[in-house]
Amino acid sequence: MRIGIFGGTFNPPHLGHLAAARHAVEELGLDRILFVPSGLPPHKKLPDGSASASERADMTDLAVDSLLLPDCASVSRAELKRPGPSYTVDTLEAIRSENPDAELFLLMGSDMLYDFPRWKLPRKVASLAKIAAFCRACGEDEEPLHRQKEFLERALAADIRLLHPKQIIDISSTRLRGLLPAGQGAEFLPCAVYGYILRCGLYGTRADLKRLEMPELRAVSYSMIKAKRIAHVEGTEREAVRLAERWGADTRSARQAAILHDITKYLSLDEQLKLCKKYGIVLDELERKAVKLLHAKTAAALAKEMFGADEPVCEAIRWHTTGKAGMSLLEKILYIADYIEPSRMFEGVDRLRRLAYEDLDGALLLGFDMTVAEMTAMGSPVHERTLQARDWLKGLRHT
Ligand SMILES: [Fe+2]
Ligand SMILES: [Fe+2]
Repeated sequence: MRIGIFGGTFNPPHLGHLAAARHAVEELGLDRILFVPSGLPPHKKLPDGSASASERADMTDLAVDSLLLPDCASVSRAELKRPGPSYTVDTLEAIRSENPDAELFLLMGSDMLYDFPRWKLPRKVASLAKIAAFCRACGEDEEPLHRQKEFLERALAADIRLLHPKQIIDISSTRLRGLLPAGQGAEFLPCAVYGYILRCGLYGTRADLKRLEMPELRAVSYSMIKAKRIAHVEGTEREAVRLAERWGADTRSARQAAILHDITKYLSLDEQLKLCKKYGIVLDELERKAVKLLHAKTAAALAKEMFGADEPVCEAIRWHTTGKAGMSLLEKILYIADYIEPSRMFEGVDRLRRLAYEDLDGALLLGFDMTVAEMTAMGSPVHERTLQARDWLKGLRHT
């Protein structure tokens, strides 16, 4: 087992960190890579206007999630939990004792090799882990670096590898903290991290969540869900806009509804119920037990309260899991876009996709029929609103 340990303040974590991590996994053949946000770094005081320790850890979670390497990459909050300054030697000892047979690699920027002898117990650090240092741009004179590497290997018995990432993203957290208050820098951040920064108003960003442009709304939405769900939300957005164009609905509303429709999907039942209490959401028997159904109502409430969405958009989100009798055009569009977006794969989806552009009500009716059949086959209760929606559509077609 080869484990890479990537420490840092991650204030904020950016695409440069992720590109380096990806490269380390490949070049060193790592089985796992552990991101370790530091609590109080011993070598530097965090600058004013920094994110708090828990915010840095949350952002690191989002950044690591965006790698889509769930079995390999994870975040350790060990340094945040330990009181006092964070020393690498303590972190390595803890990881070593949990993984006695693993080969550990401490990842760092190559410039840190010069400072390394001044770390706490550098010889001990070098005995606990091999050191893997990321070199900067190709063409840089590496002669001094090689001399330093040889010096550390001789003086501290360190085992040092120099890594040469193919893709260098020329950005630092310091520079990002300068760009963000001016509304710049998003291109250097994983989308969800940027969304988190806007949502929490970090680093001097002062976004009005009720008046976000679509790219910012997207980022904030993605900061509230798991990275693996982003493709679904993107697909739903594209599909909803296409359907709105086809059927003459407001494309901006369709887009906004699609972007926000699943923002509470990953909240626990407990968190969902708290939101229901806060926003006075009335639940029926089935919704009280089923997070799967509940997220539509809580997402609708947040769309209104947090993002200032107007009523038709909120209604489309509110009914996107069950449907209901008397659905508006926008409600139908979101329901069916969520059902047929390109990442959905199930038997009959192609027919449903075709039908959605030929006969929207026909597609909806087929969708409800398929849902009822599937739920019945699984022995799951079907929500009465879904049955009412189906009957309503059937009635329409016979009049
Ligand atoms: Fe949903
Ligand atoms: Fe969805």
